[in-house]
Amino acid sequence: MSSIVYLNGAFTPLEQATISINDRGFQFADGVYEVIYFRNHHLIDSHYHFERLYRSCLEMALSCPAQKELESIGDDLIKKNGLSEGFIYLQLTRGVWPRIHQYPTEPIAPTVLMTVKPKQTPDDLNKFGVKVITTQDLRWKRCDIKSISLLPNIMAKEKAVHCGAKEAFLVDDKGYITEGSSTNAWIVNQNGHLQTRFLDQFILPGTLRRALIEHVIPSLGYSLKEEPFTVDQLEGAVEVFYTSTTQWVVPVIQVNDKIIGQGTPGPIAQALFNAYESRVNKLALL
Ligand code: PDD
Repeated sequence: MSSIVYLNGAFTPLEQATISINDRGFQFADGVYEVIYFRNHHLIDSHYHFERLYRSCLEMALSCPAQKELESIGDDLIKKNGLSEGFIYLQLTRGVWPRIHQYPTEPIAPTVLMTVKPKQTPDDLNKFGVKVITTQDLRWKRCDIKSISLLPNIMAKEKAVHCGAKEAFLVDDKGYITEGSSTNAWIVNQNGHLQTRFLDQFILPGTLRRALIEHVIPSLGYSLKEEPFTVDQLEGAVEVFYTSTTQWVVPVIQVNDKIIGQGTPGPIAQALFNAYESRVNKLALL
């Protein structure tokens, strides 16, 4: 069965969904997106995603349908695709307008696209741990906006894959890690504190990061420092891991050529994964 997608007011088979070549998303990457996990018809931590979406839209003066409307479309889409667990991809662009750089001079309807896909059977990344590389952060200075313009991110990810790694951690001009190409980066430092970069315009405020900071870390009693760390601190960390909606908490066992700890997933990363899983189990039943 072909998957059903939502595009601008209609539910259609994927193959029949088309977008104008004058769509500003296609022409300029003038749009934003969110990826939201759902289970048992519950969108997990959806308020974090919608809060970030509306903030991204505000920063770009992009008009966005109301949360209730988007949630109801998401719910219908999940049902139409017969899924109980997976990810919603929501993309919003400024809409269709003849190609000029400035924003359209008249109000136009945004292009609203929503698709769903099932959660893949886990490939046990969190059980076995992964390798990451470090590479220069080539991105712009508003990485807090969840823009669909992802060229530096995909180039970094491609480099990681080429090096036999799962993720690339990005390094700013001062030698500090900003975040992963599609994840937030964390360490357990030599003093036993969890450490991840503070939020500013150079990283995306991850929703999994936020769920860990607001719920999971306090409940497990770990101490947290929101401070950047260098490549040396990363390579010499007690534990390293990364977080995202799609993969939750992934332990890192190798950074570049350096083995982290004993070369096995660290206990803190595993505890965070398990605690987040318990949170999802609870939220999916509400
Ligand atoms: N990526 N940093 C970047 C650059 C990201 O692209 C993402 C998410 C994250 C983690 O955010 P969250 O915890 O809200 O998933 C951090 C998504 C999943 C993607 O591009 O597919």
